[in-house]
Amino acid sequence: MPKKIAIFGSGSGSNAENICTYFAQSPDIDVVLICTNKRDALIVKRAKKLNIPTYVFTKNELNNFANLHKKLKVRGVDVVILAGFLLKLPPKMIDSYPNRIINIHPSLLPKYGGKGMYGDNIHKAVIKNKETESGISIHLVNQNYDEGKIILQEKCSISFNESTETLTQKIHKLEQNYFPLAIEKMIKNL
Ligand code: GAR
Repeated sequence: MPKKIAIFGSGSGSNAENICTYFAQSPDIDVVLICTNKRDALIVKRAKKLNIPTYVFTKNELNNFANLHKKLKVRGVDVVILAGFLLKLPPKMIDSYPNRIINIHPSLLPKYGGKGMYGDNIHKAVIKNKETESGISIHLVNQNYDEGKIILQEKCSISFNESTETLTQKIHKLEQNYFPLAIEKMIKNL
């Protein structure tokens, strides 16, 4: 039986789309649902184009979790992937999927993690602090922001004239190349 995954996102959904495309022909992994708290986010349009069912929920519904949990159970979801999902998960959800929720973070954790650290905010801070490298961290999700066990990290160098845009592109490339591989590896070990 293939393992079933749900992807949660709040934004553009480029990672969600890449994961769906990567596993489209996989006998081992099925993307069965894309979930979002942002009805108008590009991720919803991408899901439609890919023919993956979507579920839109409110912050209250996430925090209460009972109804959202039902939706995930009906689809037989084994693993949850956070791909640009910007709300904190409630303890009930984390307890329901122990070691089965994966997040991607666009920095080399533990650096540039925690509240308020997402997307461009991270890249601006990294450049401002004259870091010589940045990268991505793919990790299991626990009760604290960005502190779960790291599954994979990949680095990129920062040039002297790096801009937020060029760093965003470098990080995007790493995400596209490595996120599906990390998911595959984690699911093989379940
Ligand atoms: C990605 O760069 C992801 O690493 C980041 O949001 C972007 C989502 O892009 N996540 C975080 O910052 C989480 N703290 P996408 O919607 O195009 O996949």
